[in-house]
Amino acid sequence: MSSLDIAAIKADFPILKRTIRGNNRLVYLDSGATSQKPVSVLDAERDFYLNHNAAVHRGAHQLAEEATELYEGAREKVARFIGADSNEVIFTKSATESINAIAYSLGNSTVGSRFHLKAGDRIVLSEMEHHANLIPWQELARRTGAELVWFKVTDEGRLDLSNMDDLINSKTKVVALTHQSNVLGTINPLEKITKRAHEVGALFVLDACQSIPHYKVDVKSLNVDFVAFSGHKMLGPTGVGILWGEKELLDAMPPFLTGGSMIETVTMESATYLDAPKRFEAGVPNMAQAVGLGAAIDYLNKIGLDRIHAHEVELTKKALEGLQTINGLSVIGPKELEMRGGVVSFAVDGIHPHDLGQALDQFGIAVRTGHHCAWPLMKRFKTVATTRASFYLYNDLDDIAALVDGVERARKYFAER
Ligand code: ALA
Repeated sequence: MSSLDIAAIKADFPILKRTIRGNNRLVYLDSGATSQKPVSVLDAERDFYLNHNAAVHRGAHQLAEEATELYEGAREKVARFIGADSNEVIFTKSATESINAIAYSLGNSTVGSRFHLKAGDRIVLSEMEHHANLIPWQELARRTGAELVWFKVTDEGRLDLSNMDDLINSKTKVVALTHQSNVLGTINPLEKITKRAHEVGALFVLDACQSIPHYKVDVKSLNVDFVAFSGHKMLGPTGVGILWGEKELLDAMPPFLTGGSMIETVTMESATYLDAPKRFEAGVPNMAQAVGLGAAIDYLNKIGLDRIHAHEVELTKKALEGLQTINGLSVIGPKELEMRGGVVSFAVDGIHPHDLGQALDQFGIAVRTGHHCAWPLMKRFKTVATTRASFYLYNDLDDIAALVDGVERARKYFAER
């Protein structure tokens, strides 16, 4: 049994008390898209605006000093949470912006720079990337003439590494990979891939949107160069994302967005830029959101990521077991728990995922249906859409039972029509 006090946790998330489509208890199983927020996160944002609001890093007054302390305090919390130094943690507006920041920086690099890409160079991705870690690289390839290649996905939903040494070769400049698939739940075996990437001198970019909210990730021990993730999937507000990078790389990279706050000197003709993190934080940043993310991290730390992860493994086990008893249901992704997170995608013979999602919604169960921003992966599994349930610390075994029961009821309903 889980060591988490789920009733107490649920009480921290007022939205979970809602009833849906009549009198159904809300069963929220869409945390892979965005998590719900505890009151402490809402309070932290509100407190920032109520009591401390001022533009950070400028202004000689007390409010500016307090706002800066709160904002930089949030940066330190993020840094500690991922095992990084705070001057390597950059606040962006989203994980998507974080990945774009790297791709644009590389695209802005001049000939001769170690970050410069040209025709004949290679960017290596995988077939399981969500669009945020695919389209920015497509655009970079288009602008520079570099070639895009990718790992294929096996029938079990794992990366096919059989041709790794061919894919990642001396032409490879960037390898960009998800830590955990948002559709399959697969956790990728990073060690051998990062080793190969660095053997050939490539930069390794990790999309950690689905991993960092759920289990301990120590960025320094992963042997990666950049990590992107979002605040809103880890109990934090929308409008704040993180880019982590090795300091020495960040300081050498051309900035993505330019403007106020990131400059060192300015004349009418030109400017020089500060080092990271300010180098990548042009303009007045998303201060209240960063402070809210700091409160989210406090909350996750209070519960403990190891306990959260163990709880999610238990939920996933029960979901995999329960769902697979349903006639005509197939799980898309690994069916065993090893190297797998709390995301379960499935298809039910003869029912379109959108119809299934709508039927579940009638019972108060919120899941995501569709291509999950991972269109090529849908094509790989010869489908246009799946139904996806994704779990977090506030879900319990009753939620899993409601899901299994709801899918079975929907199956019977559609079978009788
Ligand atoms: N990538 C997010 C999801 O999986 C949007 O739902």
